[in-house]
Amino acid sequence: MSKMRVAVLISGRGSNMEALIKAARAPDYPAEIVLVLSNKPDAAGLEIARGLGVQAEAVPAKPFGKDRAAHELALDERLRAAGVEIVCLAGYMRLLTPYLVGRWAGRMLNIHPSLLPAYPGLDTHARALAAGETKHGCTVHLVTEGMDEGPVIAQAEVPVLPGDTEEALAARVLAQEHRIYPAALARLAEKIRLREEAPRR
Ligand code: GRF
Repeated sequence: MSKMRVAVLISGRGSNMEALIKAARAPDYPAEIVLVLSNKPDAAGLEIARGLGVQAEAVPAKPFGKDRAAHELALDERLRAAGVEIVCLAGYMRLLTPYLVGRWAGRMLNIHPSLLPAYPGLDTHARALAAGETKHGCTVHLVTEGMDEGPVIAQAEVPVLPGDTEEALAARVLAQEHRIYPAALARLAEKIRLREEAPRR
C-alpha cells in the first residue's frame, strides 16, 4: 500500500504534529508525514519532528514582510518539491491567502480547539468558559477561504466541568485533538486515494 505524502505546518509546540507523526508510523496507516514546515524558526515542534526522524524546516515569514503571497509561494515550492499530496495545519498561526488555500483545495486540513461553528478564532477555551458552556471540544475541517470554516471531517466533544480553568479545559480538549486529527487525516487520505485509483471513464 502506498501512503499519501503529508506535510504538517506549525508555528509552535507541535503536539498535534507529533500525534500525526506517531500515528502515521503504523504500517496500515494510509499516510506518512514527509515534511514539517514552520513560519517561526524557533518553533519547538521543529526539533520534535527531527527527533522523530522527519524532515523539518523553517520558512520564516519575516523576510517577506507584508507580502503574504510571496511567503506562501515559498511554502508552496517546498511542498511541491517534497511531493506532498496533503497539508495539515496544526497550530499554524498565520492566515492563509486564497492563493495557497486554492492550490490545496480539498487537500488541506486544520484542527481548531472548539466545536465549530462555535468559537472560531483565538482564546476559544476562555470564551467557552466565560459563556458558561457545558460542552466544548475540537474540530478537524477542510480549509477554505474563511477563517475556521470549511467542511467538518471530525469533531470530539468534552464536558466543561465545574471549577474548570482555561488550562484544565484546554488539556481535556487537546487530548481529544490528538485522537481525532490522525483519524481525520486517515479518512481524507483514503478518500483521495480511492478517488485517484478509480478507473477513469
Ligand atoms: C491546538 O490547540 C490547535 O487546535 C490550535 O492550536 C493548538 C496547537 O497546539 N489550532 P500544538 O502546536 O499542536 O501543540
